[in-house]
Amino acid sequence: MAGPVAHRLSFSPWDPADVDRLVQWVAGQTWDNYVTRRPSPAIVRRRVAAGHYSGPNCATWWIGHQDADQPVGLVRLHDLQDPTALFDVYVCPAWRGQGLGLAAVRWLTRHVFHAYPAVSRLEAQTRADNWAMRVVLRRAGYVKEAHHRASWPTESGELIASVGYAMLRQDFETGQTTPVDWDDAP
Ligand SMILES: CC(C)(COP(=O)(O)OP(=O)(O)OC[C@H]1O[C@@H](n2cnc3c(N)ncnc32)[C@H](O)[C@@H]1OP(=O)(O)O)[C@@H](O)C(=O)NCCC(=O)NCCS
Repeated sequence: MAGPVAHRLSFSPWDPADVDRLVQWVAGQTWDNYVTRRPSPAIVRRRVAAGHYSGPNCATWWIGHQDADQPVGLVRLHDLQDPTALFDVYVCPAWRGQGLGLAAVRWLTRHVFHAYPAVSRLEAQTRADNWAMRVVLRRAGYVKEAHHRASWPTESGELIASVGYAMLRQDFETGQTTPVDWDDAP
């Protein structure tokens, strides 16, 4: 982790026995850019039961800040048994725009490539209009690989574009960027 903000952050694993705290916290947030913006406690409990936050394939981490007595964000890793793992990052609104999102993506990238040797790619999908996340991904060295038209369902029923960014283990280890072969065929 680099930069002053990173030194004030901590990442601690969510304890799967502590369901109530996770349910209360997740249901207390507004999840802009997600398909379900205001998940009810019942929805979050169903997700917990379905292995959305923990298990062989998933792991969830709290983002802590030394000046906050509650978590300021959450990192969820999933598809950890596949060669391509995926992640979500959430920073509470009051803490956005201070570099926490970037520090979290840098942290989780290092964590996954160290702790899960079989993962060869880390990928993030987001709405094309999620500029904060796109800025973070680009700054963390992720490369845009996909632009899916009319693919992201919103609560209003509208489908908007989504984008996919990824980091290759090889690029993480060498510091090089493998280019995307955009011109192979139309
Ligand atoms: C995306 C998210 C994690 C970013 O966290 P963050 O702590 O605000 O990120 P950072 O402060 O590291 O960087 C965000 C950058 O995006 C910039 N930004 C924010 N909104 C922007 C916009 N509409 N257009 C262009 N840049 C924008 C910020 O100014 C900042 O850049 P700066 O450092 O030059 O000012 C946070 O906004 C969030 O939790 N959003 C809701 C959940 C979400 O969308 N998660 C991603 C799903 S994959």
